[in-house]
Amino acid sequence: MNKQSLKRSLFSRTRAEAGLTLVEAAVLLRVSARTVRRYDSGESSPSALAMKVLQDAAKERTAVGEGSSFRFIDLFAGIGGLRQGFEHIGGRCVFTSEWDEKCQETYRLNYPDNHEIAGDIRPYSERPHLVPEHDVLLAGFPCQPFSIAGVSKKNALGRPHGFLCDTQGTLFFDTAQIIAHHRPAAFVLENVKNLERHDGGKTFQTIMNVLQKELGYQVQFRVVNSQAWVPQKRERIFIVGFREPAAFDLAGLKLPPPELGPKLGAILEDEVDPKYTLTPKLWQYLQDYKAKHNAAGNGFGYSLFGPDDVARTLSARYYKDGSEILIRQKGKRPRRLTPRECARLMGFDSPGAPFRIAVSDTQAYRQFGNAVVVPVVKYLAEAMRPELMRAIFHAPEDQSAGRRERRAAAR
Ligand SMILES: C[S@@+](CC[C@H](N)C(=O)[O-])C[C@H]1O[C@@H](n2cnc3c(N)ncnc32)[C@H](O)[C@@H]1O
Repeated sequence: MNKQSLKRSLFSRTRAEAGLTLVEAAVLLRVSARTVRRYDSGESSPSALAMKVLQDAAKERTAVGEGSSFRFIDLFAGIGGLRQGFEHIGGRCVFTSEWDEKCQETYRLNYPDNHEIAGDIRPYSERPHLVPEHDVLLAGFPCQPFSIAGVSKKNALGRPHGFLCDTQGTLFFDTAQIIAHHRPAAFVLENVKNLERHDGGKTFQTIMNVLQKELGYQVQFRVVNSQAWVPQKRERIFIVGFREPAAFDLAGLKLPPPELGPKLGAILEDEVDPKYTLTPKLWQYLQDYKAKHNAAGNGFGYSLFGPDDVARTLSARYYKDGSEILIRQKGKRPRRLTPRECARLMGFDSPGAPFRIAVSDTQAYRQFGNAVVVPVVKYLAEAMRPELMRAIFHAPEDQSAGRRERRAAAR
């Protein structure tokens, strides 16, 4: 064994910095995987040109954001709320999955990427090597109940199973399969606050068991209210996992005080098309509905807001009647928020860079109502950044590269 092979070769370290597998490096350098393996182990040396190509790839990867760019994937991407947060800290999106064609339209328009949007995630979780290598996995997976029927059958057959089996047929299972294969340095999963209580807490318990016990990640979660950033009370659960022990403390993360957050006046448009004012018929219906429920002693029904208020949660069904957030108008019936106001309410519009909306109002309301609040994700991403950089770029002997190679060998 020569001296070079005792330490990692310069080639191997540069390849890890470039985030390339042996096979990917072979394609880039137009040599065989066997040759790359020899460069990697130090058995032979690459040409100066090959080394330069590899170094350029590594430089490109670390070019953005104070030399700390990393690669992430955006699953159940919707209109890219999670993506915006991680691009904000210098990440580069290398894969997107979203099957809704209207969401794809909005996504393409706002993130003119170098990659196609993949549709349904399920074929990818069956063949996860088709998903490119990445450092961070982002997913706002839909919450579904887990069936245990399949597990009992497996038990009966005496086959060993883990918690992951409990989640088969759900989109969390697909997410977990991709994590299991790629073992990114970190992941961020986002969901409705209710995920914790879903199915009597069983859903959440299973998710945590899979992430912690089966996949071996250090996992934390926290419900965050968006009111500190936007004039909307919107609580979402964030589940953050690090592959290696990390000093990131989600529970201890200091959040800005909600009471100092902006009020609706900050996002309302000055001039609004009369088509957003409720028709007399709809307004009458909403008032009757509320009166009926008030009489029955419950508080269902529309909510009215003015410029000094903070709105309720915008839902994906806002397009139906807008009843959860109606805006008072002097001498007129109330109106709905416009799609532009929804973009602002969700933090998608940034000064000088309005979010582009080219779909119908109905689709736009659905898309914003399903999304995450962008400044919340930016805040979280910024807080994670130091530990994320440590985990990605200073992992002991580049754990991810090691795992990638073992996987490549196993294929
Ligand atoms: C809660 S939304 C995520 C919203 C996103 N975080 C955002 O900020 O816009 C979940 C998304 O998952 C998508 N989805 C559901 N099942 C899917 C599947 N099997 N493959 C790909 N996308 C899927 C839905 O169309 C929806 O847009």
